[in-house]
Amino acid sequence: MKPLSSLGLKFQNGQLSALDQTLLPHEEKWIDCRDPAHMVEMIQRLAVRGAPLIGVAAALAIARFAETGATKDAILLAAKKLRAARPTAVNLMAAMDRVVFSRDPSLLTADEMVREAEAIFEEDNILCRQMSERAAHLVNEGDNIITHCNTGGLVTTGIGTALGVIRLAHEQKKKIHVYVDETRPLLQGARLTTWELAKLGIPHTLICDNMAASLMGLGKVQKVFVGADRIARNGDFANKIGTYSLAVVAHHHKVPFYVVAPHTTFDAACPSGREIQIEQRGPDEVRAGKSPEQCAVWNPAFDVTPRTLISGIVLDDRMI
Ligand code: MRU
Repeated sequence: MKPLSSLGLKFQNGQLSALDQTLLPHEEKWIDCRDPAHMVEMIQRLAVRGAPLIGVAAALAIARFAETGATKDAILLAAKKLRAARPTAVNLMAAMDRVVFSRDPSLLTADEMVREAEAIFEEDNILCRQMSERAAHLVNEGDNIITHCNTGGLVTTGIGTALGVIRLAHEQKKKIHVYVDETRPLLQGARLTTWELAKLGIPHTLICDNMAASLMGLGKVQKVFVGADRIARNGDFANKIGTYSLAVVAHHHKVPFYVVAPHTTFDAACPSGREIQIEQRGPDEVRAGKSPEQCAVWNPAFDVTPRTLISGIVLDDRMI
């Protein structure tokens, strides 16, 4: 496999490595991926996270496994486990299908799989640019923008999805300010989006998720941009938990709300949001060491926002 490098993933000198996103912003530690099972573990504990990146990382892990001489049976088993590592983001399934399951068995050679995984990595970078350019006109000079979760260079091989649009507006010298939802319970906004925005020199302010309504009520927000983990055929979409309530609040205040995603997040086989499987995660993420240890917890990692609540969905190749 040729050398590849992005903010959160790299392949160099025969080694696939990922920046451990659970340690950011305080520690920048790269972890060497031993094998596909190790990648499953990294994806499940969110060291490697975000819809596009988990697809790319899984593709590279399986291609490298093939390159180092794994048998066809071992590759199929490992790919099946990677495909099931997280259930909501469709990019993971699409990447595994593209590299392994939808291929003619005669093309299941290491060379072919490596070529496909490299293409997925490189295409993701291009898709980021394309969707950001397509959405660029939606950002006006002076806009204050709310974003939720983390959608930047850490979750793609390029400039990001929703955060890519924000980054491009900044590069175009538009004067913007970003309000970053902290994104309970795992704080992807507070830990990761602020880290990326600070690196990029983009003015930003951190808020708790439950402050968005007040901010909008004060007239301080002009746009909302978020990413997606799966977009259904009717335009309903799953994204990080808290996106739905943000959309309700934006709709109430007539603040335009846009979803930005690559076409790899669009699931043509999924008729509506009702059919999207939502990942449930462990109770300690919500208790966060603050609640009684045995306190019952409900912890869906994602929610579904109906298309009717939002202004538009920007993909790299079209607007919905
Ligand atoms: O659980 P995570 O951190 O992987 O969730 C990520 C998100 O929900 C992102 O907002 C989503 O993947 C869109 S960004 C490309």
